[in-house]
Amino acid sequence: MTKPTNPKTFHVKSFGCQMNVYDGERMAELMAAQGLTATDDANAADLVVLNTCHIREKATEKVYSDIGRLRKHGKDPMIAVAGCVAQAEGVEIAHRAKVDIVVGPQAYHNLPDLVAKASRGELGLDTDMPVLSKFGALPARRKVGPTAFLTVQEGCDKFCTYCVVPYTRGAEISRQWDALVDEAKALVDAGAKEITLLGQNVNAWSDGDRDLGALIRELDRIPGLARIRYTTSHPNDMTDGLIAAHRDVEKLMPFLHLPVQAGNDRILKAMNRSHSRDSYLRILDRVRTARPDIALSGDFIVGFPGETEAEFADTLSLIDEVGYAQAFSFKYSPRPGTPAADMDGQIAPEVMDDRLQRLQAALNRDQAAFNAASVGRTCQVLIERRGKLPGQMLGKSPWLQSIHLITDAQVGDLVEVEIVSAGPNSLAGIERVRVAA
Ligand code: SAH
Ligand code: SF4
Ligand code: F3S
Repeated sequence: MTKPTNPKTFHVKSFGCQMNVYDGERMAELMAAQGLTATDDANAADLVVLNTCHIREKATEKVYSDIGRLRKHGKDPMIAVAGCVAQAEGVEIAHRAKVDIVVGPQAYHNLPDLVAKASRGELGLDTDMPVLSKFGALPARRKVGPTAFLTVQEGCDKFCTYCVVPYTRGAEISRQWDALVDEAKALVDAGAKEITLLGQNVNAWSDGDRDLGALIRELDRIPGLARIRYTTSHPNDMTDGLIAAHRDVEKLMPFLHLPVQAGNDRILKAMNRSHSRDSYLRILDRVRTARPDIALSGDFIVGFPGETEAEFADTLSLIDEVGYAQAFSFKYSPRPGTPAADMDGQIAPEVMDDRLQRLQAALNRDQAAFNAASVGRTCQVLIERRGKLPGQMLGKSPWLQSIHLITDAQVGDLVEVEIVSAGPNSLAGIERVRVAA
């Protein structure tokens, strides 16, 4: 079969963080607006967009194995590599993997032009980083599910020594107030009941003297919007205004994902985190004072270069002190071009495995305890999808726990639920009252 020119069908596959999920949705909307038809089956598509992640080595490797699989099982599609690997590797990836299009996370609004170029047999390459122009060039939001993402901020100026994001996503920029309020209203009109505000450092968002807390207070006024969340935040950007929003805004869910990475000050310094163990714990105290029932989440890296057993033990003790409701944890992965990749004292894989196992045991224990403590609570659940059993629906508690229940409520309904039992990863509930949204 010959490679399709002017593709008629497309498939977008996103890897990595929620910002990539958002970008993937926007690319799909863009291609649909060009008259292409979405297909769920990558192997049946004329154009496949791989929206990639570069954060750890494994994530990057996935791209190459996916391209191999498509070549074997697909219909020799036009392949576009988008996302952070495209940005990091640029034209290299076109040479190495013979793909047709390479488009960075700040340039994907140009995808239609790049598809046209590839249809002429040329390489479609765009890894420019123009400031914010992509959002204005994208079509309006149309139909979304009950939960939707809204990117408010992009990029990172923090330069943690292990991390590629400042290089793949560029400098911190904030989208403007009016554009965000308009997009949030469009999402609610399109069916969203819950909006999660996204950014690599979402709480660094600002427009003039207005911070993320002010934006949340504005979104609070949108009729039909029931819930607001935000992720991922950086400890140094937890403003007083945002903490006060947790106290005052009922629609702002009691959940905070605040990565700390490690519990030892020497390691935090070597990571260039610019917060200490103590300053992090003090921020959590302030947030808990504002919103006593807040559920906490974090990110952790084990085996950063030079990490001793005693320094790792400080991370375990921090976990004991905080009591996270859930968390993500990773083995340190050296990334090309980052300072930590060249540091002395790279940790042996078996030591990393052992530390990750102990860390995850502690996190799992706390997650199970948090879930067990929810039994007997009554809370609102936003129904997100059908479960496997007849009549079963799945949704989320305010604290981002998955809850299943038997109900005739529909996707998008808010239901008042009593939590009756808890497993490590999900809870069972009984419907008490249907809540009008
Ligand atoms: N901006 C966010 C998250 C960025 S990436 C923040 O600052 O917290 C998501 C997570 O991936 C990070 O929090 C970190 O825990 C992990 N991560 C980033 N680079 C990594 C690396 N080189 N090796 C292992 N984990 C990494
Ligand atoms: Fe990466 Fe650090 Fe920026 Fe987070 S704050 S994106 S970990 S450099
Ligand atoms: Fe991955 Fe890029 Fe997100 S590297 S985690 S997709 S910002």
